[in-house]
Amino acid sequence: MEVTKICCIGAGYVGGPTMAVIAQKCPHIQVTVVDLNEQRIKDWNDPDTNNIPIYEPGLSEIVAEARGRNLFFSTEVEKAIDEAQVIFISVNTPTKTYGKGKGMAADLKYIELCARQIAKVAKENKIVVEKSTLPVRTAEAIKSILDNTGNGVQFQILSNPEFLAEGTAVTDLLNPDRILIGGDTTPEGEAAINALVDVYANWVSKDKILTTNVWSSELSKLTANAFLAQRISSINAMSELCEKTGADVNEVAKAIGMDTRIGPKFLKASVGFGGSCFQKDILNLVYIAKSYGLNEVADYWEQVIIMNDHQKRRFSNKIVQTLYNTVADKKITFLGWAFKKDTNDTRESAAIYVADDLINEQAKISVYDPKVSRNKMLADLNYLESRSVEENNNAILAFDNPYDACKGSHAISILTEWDEFTAYDWQKIYDSMHKPAFLFDGRNILNAKELESIGFVYKGIGS
Ligand code: NAD
Ligand code: UDX
Repeated sequence: MEVTKICCIGAGYVGGPTMAVIAQKCPHIQVTVVDLNEQRIKDWNDPDTNNIPIYEPGLSEIVAEARGRNLFFSTEVEKAIDEAQVIFISVNTPTKTYGKGKGMAADLKYIELCARQIAKVAKENKIVVEKSTLPVRTAEAIKSILDNTGNGVQFQILSNPEFLAEGTAVTDLLNPDRILIGGDTTPEGEAAINALVDVYANWVSKDKILTTNVWSSELSKLTANAFLAQRISSINAMSELCEKTGADVNEVAKAIGMDTRIGPKFLKASVGFGGSCFQKDILNLVYIAKSYGLNEVADYWEQVIIMNDHQKRRFSNKIVQTLYNTVADKKITFLGWAFKKDTNDTRESAAIYVADDLINEQAKISVYDPKVSRNKMLADLNYLESRSVEENNNAILAFDNPYDACKGSHAISILTEWDEFTAYDWQKIYDSMHKPAFLFDGRNILNAKELESIGFVYKGIGS
């Protein structure tokens, strides 16, 4: 089967960039991205592609090229499902906040809604692709819904997890390490797999396109995120030991990373990992392991999250302790609020938790982030429900330039590794601060010696 019409349900951080790249690389395929969120679709259709709702380097250019040619953003979900041969489900699968599995399991209500809608609308055979990250064996549930509530048409379910990282989504999509496609081993399943392989083969070499059974594909995604996050928690655990022993975690990371069996990536000690994926997917993995009675497996992976929570708390504690055990009414400036550089996404950002701790200690937080609005920062804090909306409103000030944000502050804290932070006039910032001027570098991106020679009291992670 040659694919000429694709629909993607969910115009978020995965659906938007992924479909934009498919549309750019496959001009013969009509790609329609649909979402229930009208504002999000309106933003994707903004005539100025610099205003699209997701900031990713290189993305607005790709959208400018393909949008209106073979890339469309729409709220007409049913129409797009009806017309497409292949339907990607790319909706959110957050951690459940209610009922059984609360705080651990993935909430699959949006996935189920999609399956029911596809079943209702489809009048011809379709390939349904799980792009969202899902617990192993979810395809079974989707298939059951499709087969039992549909119009008698045949569905093939494929698992095609997405491995892009935010901030590098476009380059990750253009040059993926691998594409993973899981499907049934029946002739129909294999035909569906081949149809999707052919879509990716428009720009990805076939030796990078891996096909597996559905369950391996679903579980590989959770496994990949667990392994990546585990490396960060491992180096962060070492960072605490470094601080006690006089070792420097950057030197340790370099030394171990040169061992080709370990490798240099994902060994950067930090204030703790954030983002919408790592914590959610590991909690889900822990929940799945527990549900099979595999308590040792569950405990092993849960420790990655425990270490990460500890690292965030340790960072805020260090700020309080260093500032003579009180930050009440002191101005602490955060440089960065996004969970990593080159994204406007703040989900699970360490900045939120550090701010929450410091506001509990009655600090005033000033923030500068190149891509995050004050409304977003407030929404993130309000979501924690630690205090009233009004109290959060009074505790957070946002600035649109770093020098104003730092002026008159007692301490600066780097929460995101934005490149521009290294290029600031740090002497000018120092001159505008209360003395002693403290700098807590939660990303180890600044040059300690240079800052100390200006006069800062510099505290990095793990040294
Ligand atoms: P997101 O919240 O940015 O986007 C999801 C979108 O789906 C939202 O705009 C929402 O309105 C829409 N939606 C929900 N239910 C819908 C429905 N029934 N019909 C139409 N639209 C609906 O989420 P995301 O970050 O794009 O993540 C999506 C999935 O991809 C998750 O399972 C996530 O774990 C996985 N994933 C995310 C990343 C990442 O870096 N963000 C990377 C790999 C995988
Ligand atoms: C992650 C996975 O990398 C990606 O493959 C998957 O598809 C989605 O989840 P993402 O969360 O977007 O991607 O970004 P990532 O680069 O993995 O960073 C996650 C967090 O870890 C960020 O807060 C980042 O700052 C932090 N991090 C990363 C470290 O603290 N140290 C490191 O060495 C690497």
